[in-house]
Amino acid sequence: MQHFLKLSDCTPEEIIELVDLADKLKYEKKNGIEHHILKGKTLGMIFQKSSTRTRVSFEVGMYDLGGMALFLSNRDLQIGRGEPVQDTARVLSSYLDGIMIRTFEQKEVEDLARYGSIPIINGLTDFCHPCQVIADLQTIREFKGGFKGLKFCYIGDGNNMANSLIVGGIKTGMSVAIGCPETYKPDAGIMKWAAENGDFTCTPDILAAAKDADVLYTDVWASMGQEEEAAQRRKVFEGYQINDEIMSVAKKDAIVLHCLPAHREEEITEKVFEAHAKDIFTEAENRLHAHKAIMVKLMAK
Ligand code: CP
Ligand code: NVA
Repeated sequence: MQHFLKLSDCTPEEIIELVDLADKLKYEKKNGIEHHILKGKTLGMIFQKSSTRTRVSFEVGMYDLGGMALFLSNRDLQIGRGEPVQDTARVLSSYLDGIMIRTFEQKEVEDLARYGSIPIINGLTDFCHPCQVIADLQTIREFKGGFKGLKFCYIGDGNNMANSLIVGGIKTGMSVAIGCPETYKPDAGIMKWAAENGDFTCTPDILAAAKDADVLYTDVWASMGQEEEAAQRRKVFEGYQINDEIMSVAKKDAIVLHCLPAHREEEITEKVFEAHAKDIFTEAENRLHAHKAIMVKLMAK
């Protein structure tokens, strides 16, 4: 693995390897075992959108591994004033050992990898959020003991999270059901791939999607960059919510995940969120361990 740009680039074995390594690093951190595997290495973190979890967990993760992380805001970089990504990629490749980038277009991340000569990690684009899904898979295995035979249900916007969760879910052998409005489906290419490679459904009938689910997942109705559509989206997505009714048709021991930040009483009720706070905050914690695994895999050479 040279870069981590989207889950469709990874084999199922590579995904499981990352989850295994994340588990190992979690165990070691909890037991005070230090590994300065990335001693002397520097990660640049380019953020063109806001972040709490991704920023802090990559920065702390790099510190844990003996390296250092540089926060590079779009407001300060020349890239924010139009310097081409081809040039930025070549310049930064001569200073850094890896780049984590959060931006809008997937093409920008792919171009950074194409023109640079160091590992590139996708910290979220409008198209996908692969780092989040490694932590999500780690959390699912932690609570459920494995993946095969599980039903994974995502309710809400067919957005970047849905796209990555479909690929991660199918590649680990889960059955994946998406409950979303007809007009806000996940990426057509990803859905086609999922239908050809696993047990995949996408329906506006959220009760059917959630029936007998082992894992329920949701995300905001309006993602970063869609702030102006928020009011209109609130109307379209009304009812596309994880609530008591959804919980009543899922398995009794179903876990509930949310990538966060959450909008209570929109995509999830306060009651369900708080009842499953342990699942959701373990998932958030696992971002740290998952990101360390991704950095070790790409940068420890
Ligand atoms: N889930 C997630 O990526 O959180 P941040 O936007 O806070 O990084
Ligand atoms: N879909 C959300 C995910 C945030 C982690 C967004 O892109 O804003």
